[in-house]
Amino acid sequence: MYASLKSIGAYVPKNVLSNFDLEKMVDTSDEWIKKRTGIEIRHIADKDEATSDLAYEAAKVAIKRAKIDVKDVDCIILATISPDYFCMPSTACLVAEKLGIKGVMAFDISAACSGFVYSLSIAKSFIESGLKNNVLVIGAEKLSAITDYTDRGTCVIFGDGAGAAVIGRSDDKKEAIVDVMAASDGKYSNLLITPGGGSKYPASEETLKKHMHYMKMAGNETFKIAVKTLTEDVIEILRRNGLKSEDVDRFIPHQANYRIIEYVRAKLDFPKERTVVTVAKYGNTSAASIPMAINDAYENNNLNYGDLMLLDTFGGGLTWGSALVRFAQK
Ligand code: UT7
Repeated sequence: MYASLKSIGAYVPKNVLSNFDLEKMVDTSDEWIKKRTGIEIRHIADKDEATSDLAYEAAKVAIKRAKIDVKDVDCIILATISPDYFCMPSTACLVAEKLGIKGVMAFDISAACSGFVYSLSIAKSFIESGLKNNVLVIGAEKLSAITDYTDRGTCVIFGDGAGAAVIGRSDDKKEAIVDVMAASDGKYSNLLITPGGGSKYPASEETLKKHMHYMKMAGNETFKIAVKTLTEDVIEILRRNGLKSEDVDRFIPHQANYRIIEYVRAKLDFPKERTVVTVAKYGNTSAASIPMAINDAYENNNLNYGDLMLLDTFGGGLTWGSALVRFAQK
């Protein structure tokens, strides 16, 4: 019996924030953003649209495509760094309520951009152990709510969106989640951090004044570690599964920066046509980035039943991870 990715779905908010819009907000240019990140636009949720609303829309698509009844979902794992509420209730509980499922196990996980891969690892274990039958895994972010639009080092990168997948059971090895690796190193916790509002620096006038409730990033240092970690991760997961890059049908890396993706792709010898890149149109959507990219590939007829996907991610914590997953949506 194998855990299997039965479906994918995503939701992209309708409002668009272009590089030209950002030129009017901070000292930047379309040329700089495109050249240094590959990003052209990002989508921004409405004021009254919360992360749970984005997650709910993506979840509905994934459940429909899995051809299961919503009542068959017996666990919801939601990865986010922009929950509806600080600490509680979890955004997963709010999504369960919106879906109309009562009594389901539902919880959020905090692993920043690696959240979807971390969640896959938990879902895989739940399914393989027989504890759960259909785990709804969601990566959802309203990063615009925690982005400092006076900080050009971060605001040009991030966007909003959600992606969801149903992880079910299969006895066919060709539908399996083959392997998931997830890791962390807290030594680098300061590189990507939202310092204010937690128990270390509880919300106060001072934390507000210093913009401490927004994401801070040491971009260039993060960039260098991202490239190294994303590359090593792939080498390791392929090695331990006795695979080569040519065995992978779709390389789907975290969409943080086109230059990072391009460096890792070239280093690992993945051809461009087998690498999924969505950063130009969505920006960096943290935990939502990988499921949104899978969905994008699927909706553009660039992903077929049985394809072996290699997911590769990196984010705050620091956290990182990779996964070898067969696309099992029929
Ligand atoms: O998703 C989780 C993980 N996150 C990542 O992996 C993101 C990693 N980091 C990045 O993507 C890049 O580091 C950034 C896009 C954030 C920044 O690009 P960079 O090429 O690393 O730029 P930098 O920070 O080294 O700055 C180079 C120059 C500086 O000017 P000086 O000192 O050379 O005069 C910056 O002040 O670019 C300047 N700069 C900008 N200029 C125009 C920084 N941000 C901007 C901007 N527009 N938005």
